[in-house]
Amino acid sequence: MELTPEQVKQFDRDGFLLFPNLFSGEEVDILRQETDRISQIRSEMVVREGETEAVKIMFRLHETDGETASPAFRAAAHTPRILRAAQQCLHDDDVYMHHSKLNMKAAIEGSAWMWHQDFHAWHLDGIAEPNMATMTVVLTEATPLNGCMYVLPGSHREGRSDPRRDESTAYKLWVAKTPDMKEYMKKYPEPVPIVGGAGTAALFHCNLLHASGHNLSAEDRWQIFFCFNQCKNRPADVENPRPDYVRSRNWTPLTVSAEDGIVTAGRELAA
Ligand code: SIN
Ligand code: MN
Repeated sequence: MELTPEQVKQFDRDGFLLFPNLFSGEEVDILRQETDRISQIRSEMVVREGETEAVKIMFRLHETDGETASPAFRAAAHTPRILRAAQQCLHDDDVYMHHSKLNMKAAIEGSAWMWHQDFHAWHLDGIAEPNMATMTVVLTEATPLNGCMYVLPGSHREGRSDPRRDESTAYKLWVAKTPDMKEYMKKYPEPVPIVGGAGTAALFHCNLLHASGHNLSAEDRWQIFFCFNQCKNRPADVENPRPDYVRSRNWTPLTVSAEDGIVTAGRELAA
């Protein structure tokens, strides 16, 4: 897949692109089997929440080594649909993955993500320029009831806002301050929900404001995120760097593979 120049312009203008049904039912089934498998692993890379210890996030699925490594998610990350789109929107063919994560937002219990810009945490990781983008793929249908993600169109042009630390969920993060957020919501168009059947994807800029609500539905909401950075924008050394699973030290440029990589990986996993 190659994005059209209009799509790249749209990304620059709105800060995101939507891709309904980008991945097939067969591909999604393979990725869901892998999600099931990895969610059984006990590791610091698998973050749980609530009394039932439901998985909230699983990290580092895209590498060849480590407890949470998944050949199928690795293959997904290298498909033209994901990697080529990221290269085109970052206007650079040399990109690497800052991290990958799979948010499992469990039925009834899965918690919200307050409005935030991803780049704040990544700047603290030592990354100078907001030239990063994330491709996310929904692995179960995403709806407002199950806590789909919302994006605030054009808000990446705001630059970095001054955030506050939110420690209300099992994953602590930097979020937009409420008075600022109220102003942004007056200034920009209505938030856009990232909804659609499993396999639907979105690519979004690292300064785009986004959020998602609690999962009030009876089904889990599973969604993978691949966060890309330009190799030339790799982090500078920082004191007490975050672990490799959130701040990768693998800065080798990624190479685009064939589109059928997930299906091939699925066959190998089944053999
Ligand atoms: C995130 O912003 O990192 C997660 C949002 C979500 O899973 O809905
Ligand atoms: Mn985010």
